[in-house]
Formats: sequence, C-alpha cells, structure tokens
Amino acid sequence: MADITESPEWSALAEHHAALAGRHLRDLFADDPGRVDRMTVTAGDLHLDYSKHRATGETLTLLVALAERAGLRARIEAMFTGEHINVSEDRAVLHTALRLPPGEALTVDGQDVAGDVHAVLDKMADFAGRVRSGEWTGFTGKRITTVVNIGIGGSDLGPAMAYEALHDFADAGISCRFVSNIDPADIVGKLAGLDPEKTLFVISSKTFGTLETLTNAKAARQWLVERLGDDKAVSRHFVAVSTNAERVAAFGIDTANMFGFWDWVGGRYSFDGAIGLSLVIAIGGEAFREMLAGFREIDEHFRRAPFEANMPVLMGLLGIWYTDFFGAQTRAVLPYSQRLSRFPAYLQQLTMESNGKSVRADGAPVVAQTGEIFWGEPGTNGQHAFYQLLHQGTRLVPADFIGFAEPFEEPAVDGPAGMHDLLTANMLAQASALAFGRTAEEIAAEGAPAAVVPHKVMPGNRPTSTILVPKLTPKTLGSLVALYEHIVFVEGTIWGIDSFDQWGVELGKVMAMDLAPALTSAEPPSRAPDPSTAALVRRYRELRG
Ligand code: F6P
Repeated sequence: MADITESPEWSALAEHHAALAGRHLRDLFADDPGRVDRMTVTAGDLHLDYSKHRATGETLTLLVALAERAGLRARIEAMFTGEHINVSEDRAVLHTALRLPPGEALTVDGQDVAGDVHAVLDKMADFAGRVRSGEWTGFTGKRITTVVNIGIGGSDLGPAMAYEALHDFADAGISCRFVSNIDPADIVGKLAGLDPEKTLFVISSKTFGTLETLTNAKAARQWLVERLGDDKAVSRHFVAVSTNAERVAAFGIDTANMFGFWDWVGGRYSFDGAIGLSLVIAIGGEAFREMLAGFREIDEHFRRAPFEANMPVLMGLLGIWYTDFFGAQTRAVLPYSQRLSRFPAYLQQLTMESNGKSVRADGAPVVAQTGEIFWGEPGTNGQHAFYQLLHQGTRLVPADFIGFAEPFEEPAVDGPAGMHDLLTANMLAQASALAFGRTAEEIAAEGAPAAVVPHKVMPGNRPTSTILVPKLTPKTLGSLVALYEHIVFVEGTIWGIDSFDQWGVELGKVMAMDLAPALTSAEPPSRAPDPSTAALVRRYRELRG
C-alpha cells in the first residue's frame, strides 16, 4: 500500500502550503469578507468558528480531497458497522454503539451489541438508583455518601473528567473521589476523612489485571475490613466494572455486582458505558442518558454530514494541516470553564494513546509526523501562565478555545460585566489577539518608546478554533467528547495507523514488575537492567536503607 504522503493530494497540499505559509490572517480576512460565514459550522449544540485558521477555501478543498484519498468515508462506515478496524488486536471498534438509541439494532460477530449495551445501561441505572435512593446501603445499613472509583487511564480519566464537568448535576448528596496512581499518597489522601460505613468502591478495570488498580483495590479492601471488622462487608462496599468476570470473582467481588463491557470498547473510549458507573451514581440515570444523546448527535453528524460541513472532519484535517505541513508540534486545548479542568488530561489519553504510532496499520513505518501532542489548562488561568509563549514565542501552537454562553451559577459582583461575561470576553479577546496581533506601527502610534516597540509587537497569525456551546450540561459534554473522539479517528485514518491499540505501554509495565523485587532485595532481576538503571537501583536501595 502506497503511503498517503506519496499521493497527488498530499503533493498538492505541500505546494499549496508553500504558497499560503507567508500570508497573514489579517490579509486572509481582508481579502475575503464572507470568510466567517463560510468558515463556521454547527453540529447539534456545538458551534465552531474556524475562520481564524491559516487556510482558505482552496486549503479545505485540498484537505477534503486528501480525506477522500484516504478512504475516510468508507472507514467511518466500517467503524460504525463493526468491521475489525483495530487490526493489530483483530477487534471491532464500537464505542459509538455505547450510545445507540433504544430500539436500534446492531449485531456484530454474532453478538447482539445493541441489546447487550442497553442491558448494561439498565443495570447501571437500576443500581445507581438504588444507591441514590438509599435502598442500597453499606454493611451496617447506612446510606452511601461517597463513591471511590479505583481505576487508571481510561478507567479513571473519563469518569473523573466527566464528574468534575457535571458536578453541578450531582443531585443525590453523593460525591465521588478518584484513585488512580500507585503512589500511596493517592489512596491515602483520597481515603482521608471518609466514613467506611458510607463508602462504596467501584473497581474499574477493563482487564482487571492492571497493577495500579488491583494494588489500590487491595489497599481499599484492607482499609474497609480493618474498620468494619468483618470480611463480609466487602460485598456491600465493592462493585466492579470489567470485561473479565473470572478475575473479578477471584478478587472477591460478587459478579452479580459487576458491570460489564466488551473488547470492542477501548479503555479510553469507555466512560459512556459501564466505566461511567461512578458518574451515573452521582448524576443519575436520566442525566447519563442525556449525555449519551449528546454523543449520539455528533456521531450522526460525523457519519452523515458532507466533509465540507463536518465538524470532526474539518478539525481533524486542520490538525493534519498544522502537524504535517506547518510542522506544529502540539495543540493547546483551552476550555473557558473551570469545570473542564480535567478535559485536557482526558484528551491526552484519548488522542495520544490513540495516535502516538510510528507504524501504519499494515506494519510499514509511517512517513508523516503522527500524533498531535495535546495539552492545556482552563482559561483564564492559562493566560497568566503560558499564553505569553502562544502570543510571542517562536513556535506555532494551534489552539482550540471552548466556551459556554451560560454559567451554571454566578454570584453578583460589581464591575464592568458579570463574571461569566468577563470570562467569555477573555476567551474572545485571546483568540482575536492571537490571530490579528498588533503591528509595530500600531504600537508606536500608541506612544510606546522606540526601544520598547519590538518587545510589544504581537505577531498574530496564530491559528485557533473557537467552539461555542450554550451551556455545559450532560448532553453538551457528550457532544464535546464525541467531537474529539472523531477528530482522532479522522487523523488516524489519514495517517493510516491503528488508532485503537496501545502496544507502546506494555514494555514498561513488564520491566517494572521485573525490577520491583530488586528494589527491596539483593536478588538481581531476572533480566539484567541496563547500567544506568542498575546504578539507580543501587542508589535507591542505599537511600531506602
Ligand atoms: O496502560 C494503558 C492502558 O491499557 C489503557 O489503555 C487503559 O485505559 C488503562 O491501561 C487501564 O486498563 P484497565 O482498564 O484494563 O485497567
């Protein structure tokens, strides 16, 4: 299979880039008064303005032609219908099935996928309802007031991000905490102050074989049993989310209290299924289903909208444009919502575990750069930290601004505008300053001393997307997550990689298990470590005494 970089569409983009790279956004706007209208797209509740990108109508035509060359349309269908597009693991990729509407059928590899998904959702909603109402109590008959989710990676980041995002919808007096790191400080800190009689642990692990999760789960079980004085308490205080019933049973959790999913749901794509159990308990089954409806709206848009008006396709193609033609190294995600403080971290796993690959799906080395590096912080905090580099640094950092028209609540304060309007004004001002900057002439005209003028020049021409959403709700959160899931898909398809495996995380796990005994005993590990690691092990042992 020829690499996409050898296609005429790729060459056409390279040529176009050479012609466009020297043009400033100021000129692109001046030359084209209809630009904003044409470079705006709506999908469900999401409104995207992508006019501040270093792209013209021709760029988009060429990018769409590249998507056609990569077979994107057929590949989208292949995903939705359950073909085994995760080739290295020979699996379907069906996270979109987790939000199928009731009544819609989908059978894949002989499995009634739709039926199974709804059976688990019903079981989750039923269990959550019982915990929320107080019908499900702890061992001593007390109501559950805290849920501790123990999981890592996709079994942590999704529910943790969504719980924080939807905090205002947690209406049953039940709060959640999330333990992930094997650093003892994590579990010790999260258990501090908890009442064991009122605490429910959700052990979330697709494989139920992950060292961090099982170790934290054992620590939690010991903490509970020591305090309640009876092993039997475990069955009232521990439930599991996993694909592996055998291991759940071996851990000592009743499989009647296990919520299942399937190998066709990747860990980083799983919190809209059973991995969202802690979230359902916090916000309730109805709100969770609203979130699924938000996902579904973007799924439908992605599947049906023409590429020229398809939000994930456009954003994915622009990601390719900057990564492979402008040589951009990273993409900043800047949510103007404190509630989305974990969104960048969530996106890091979603995008970087998916697309951080250097061989194509057929095993040949990739030629283009792959895998955008996602990072970010909520505005306005980021403005007072790293935006200086975004505005005046030497690197090109495309950014996604995400803002909401309505806050959940807002205290009244004296000032030029309400707090939420000030937040939004900051977002809009930043995107505008990044695009249009400030010239030396403009700065000199404001009376700046000549020596200071160069320091104050704002070069502009820094590309951004602005996504404007009515309000952060379960539904709009679902839509935002689906948007980025599909952006990842578009980019992975263009690069020709398998976005659904993660072999690169395995070696380090095996080596850690091999090294661990050597840290506490003189026994050498079964595989001799490299000289640097061996020296560090010796030093660590000395320091530990
Ligand atoms: O180490 C990477 C990974 O396999 C992720 O893909 C996954 O989300 C995480 O570990 C946790 O895995 P599990 O849910 O099986 O515990």
